[in-house]
Amino acid sequence: MPVKINENYLLLKSSYIFAEINRKVNQFQEENPDAHIIRMGIGDVTRPLPQAVIKEFHQAVDEMGQDETFMGYGPEQGYSFLIKEIIENDFASRGIELSQDEVFVSDGAKCDTGNIQEIFGLDNVVAVTDPVYPVYVETNVMAGRTGPMGDDGKYEKLVYLPCTAENNFVPELPESSVDLIYLCFPNNPTGTTLTKEQLATWVEYARENKAIILFDAAYESYITEDGIPHSIYEIEGAKEVAIEFRSFSKNAGFTGTRCAYTVVPKELMAYDGAGNAQPVNPLWNRRQTTKFNGVSYPIQKAAAAVYTPEGQKEIGESIDYYMQNAAIIRESLLKIGLQVYGGVNSPYIWVKTPEGLDSWGFFDLLLKEANVVGTPGVGFGPSGEGYFRITAFNTIENTKEAMERISKLSF
Ligand code: MLT
Repeated sequence: MPVKINENYLLLKSSYIFAEINRKVNQFQEENPDAHIIRMGIGDVTRPLPQAVIKEFHQAVDEMGQDETFMGYGPEQGYSFLIKEIIENDFASRGIELSQDEVFVSDGAKCDTGNIQEIFGLDNVVAVTDPVYPVYVETNVMAGRTGPMGDDGKYEKLVYLPCTAENNFVPELPESSVDLIYLCFPNNPTGTTLTKEQLATWVEYARENKAIILFDAAYESYITEDGIPHSIYEIEGAKEVAIEFRSFSKNAGFTGTRCAYTVVPKELMAYDGAGNAQPVNPLWNRRQTTKFNGVSYPIQKAAAAVYTPEGQKEIGESIDYYMQNAAIIRESLLKIGLQVYGGVNSPYIWVKTPEGLDSWGFFDLLLKEANVVGTPGVGFGPSGEGYFRITAFNTIENTKEAMERISKLSF
């Protein structure tokens, strides 16, 4: 018998959305070498790492070159010097108590949100918001939890929770029972948020249905308004039903450097076939210790510097810079009569495409006529059709230039 593939991979769309966009943009650039393309598609930061981070990073690299300070394998879960800073600054400061062994440092929220499904049974029913960050869906496709995709662009066995202008991008509780629920707030791609009360209804649902919420808070540092939870653990009882994912990518510019962390509270339970409650924390620990050797020492030292007063000041400046771009995008697009969402507590601006243009139609128009790249909403799921995502992660000059070019188009 010949070697077999994992056939679940054949159920995936042919390429990852951002790879597809890159392909189109590169082709356009080849055909139009003089075009100055402004990329506002993938949510990748553009500002350099803070100086406070670089200083620690350098120093830690030097330590690696000396007999006395060289470090080999570190703890798979992360060094305690970083975990201590995470707990104190990101959680204790909000009244949330965590212990060291509930935080797992990693090389990215993309990897963690993708890998987490491995520790749960294949027969769990998975719910995702629609539109959604594609990683949650595609990793479940690869694992075999979704079945094939129907003509409606939905995987048969997934439960989709539509988030559109009609419901203010707030997902409604599912009609049928679900086991694993992916929530990302501030949301990628819509840039919208949930209030504490709205998030509390999800925690209550999970508690009543013995479900687990996989809460992606990668964009929490962009929250500017009061009353928006920064962590799901601000909701009472959430530790029993939620895993939270955080990242240094979007707040501190680590998209290329790679550092993130995941919180798996010890109270969190899932159930075995006999219905016995089993703690999830040791399963994730087991998975990580087998498959992961930790994030490098210099990078964890660099990440810890994010929490120094100087680091905090610098990342605050970068976030303000991006949010200034977000305001420019919002105002420019509103001025030309487009419907615009997000961009207030998030670096993403979600735009309704003009009459007569679908998501890819608008993508093509902006690329060809304005040389501006965004992300077609439909790439995030069927309910994203008719929407378009623009990121604030660019220079202010490019942002202004892109908006001027778009404003000259007629729709
Ligand atoms: C995005 O553009 O949605 C982001 O790049 C996603 C990510 O952080 O992987």
